[in-house]
Amino acid sequence: MIPAALTDLPLWPPTNLGRDPLVPLDPGERDRFDAPVTKVRLPTDATAWLVTRHADVRQLLRHPGFSADLSRPGFPLLRALPPGALSDRRGGFIRMDGMEHSRLRRMLTAEFMLKSIRRIEPLIRQTVDRTLDDLRDAGPPADLVATFALPLPSMVICHLLGVPYADHDFFQLRSRTLLDRDAAPELVREHVAQLRDYLHRLVEAKCAAGDRADDLLSRLARDRVDTGELAVDELVGMAMLLLIAGHETTANMIGLSTLLLLRDVPGRYAALRDDPDQADTLVEELLRYLSIVRTGLPRLALEDVEIGGQLIRAGEGAIAVLSTANRDPVVFDGPDEFDPYRQAHQHVAFGFGVHQCIGQPLARAELRIALVELARRFPDLRLAAPTGQLPTRDNSIVFGLDALPVTW
Ligand code: HEM
Repeated sequence: MIPAALTDLPLWPPTNLGRDPLVPLDPGERDRFDAPVTKVRLPTDATAWLVTRHADVRQLLRHPGFSADLSRPGFPLLRALPPGALSDRRGGFIRMDGMEHSRLRRMLTAEFMLKSIRRIEPLIRQTVDRTLDDLRDAGPPADLVATFALPLPSMVICHLLGVPYADHDFFQLRSRTLLDRDAAPELVREHVAQLRDYLHRLVEAKCAAGDRADDLLSRLARDRVDTGELAVDELVGMAMLLLIAGHETTANMIGLSTLLLLRDVPGRYAALRDDPDQADTLVEELLRYLSIVRTGLPRLALEDVEIGGQLIRAGEGAIAVLSTANRDPVVFDGPDEFDPYRQAHQHVAFGFGVHQCIGQPLARAELRIALVELARRFPDLRLAAPTGQLPTRDNSIVFGLDALPVTW
């Protein structure tokens, strides 16, 4: 039973996020939020302020008066926390504030900088080639998600971290549960524990004397754990965050981007082959338009802050909605149009402020190379199922497709 005081408030996230997988928020749904900052009811029956405009979203996400730490009482949770979740969060710096957050994030900055990612472009290219061979061998027709969109970023992040890709069924299933807002809390607890145990064993092996491997987890084990700067548990939490964030997001972007290009702008898909230099611009517009983190970014006010003319009081929750910010007409002309030549770099698909995505150079490189090579090797690629029949991840924190049948 929903408490009477809440029944008039619109529910966030809405239940039909995936009706058209290429429309992050139905315009009809958008109209229900009549003010730029509106009070909403969350699935946990808590309330929060929904912040929808570009400038307000950026103000909220960079304001030190808001916390990303979900262990704080009153934090606006989008689903009930599984039992034991708060004692299990070491190293997961996406949900930490201040020094605790910056200490861990700083240890990774150099690894994910643009120049480090440029060095691994050959690895990304090889992996794209290999997964496109798998796509070719699987069809036609074939499922682009199973053969290409999901394995590509999974293989790359496994290689960078030093996690055996052979274990992909194990960690992909558990990552998925963690992001699924409908998963039973008990199952989430079990899957988090299993993933942590798995990574714990891996990290301990890397910490063992004599490990000279040149992957990220081995380097952190040698340079940070051995020196006492980082606890093993913290490294395990960081590994878990990177492994999940490093494959789920990019995989969903590749699947949805392919659907969008083939369905709505096939000419642009074909042109990618001859004009790969335009791919960077295209990727930014895809990130803006598709806004895959559709449920928004939750924060808790630690002090009274005015956002978009609304006073948000200390102790109240706020949700920064990236998809509406990315379609704010003040910043983007004709925001509901997909314009492959738009300069969309002001989008907030990677968030904003101190928690802005650390993996964005990697995600951009993977998307660019994946889409250009797909268009080059499969010039006649076509959808093999109507959009309405595609399985979507409506209840995931990161929206995407479970399958994308294609033919050529
Ligand atoms: C297109 C793909 C991606 C999208 C759309 C995306 C989106 C985001 C967003 C919106 C945030 C901010 C979360 C918040 O403020 O609460 C974030 C943070 C983060 N992302 Fe990504 N991400 C992508 C790819 C990646 C990749 C490939 C990695 C791998 C390293 C990664 C690692 C992270 C990490 C570690 C954080 C936490 C940063 C912090 O709290 O300081 N992401 N991402």
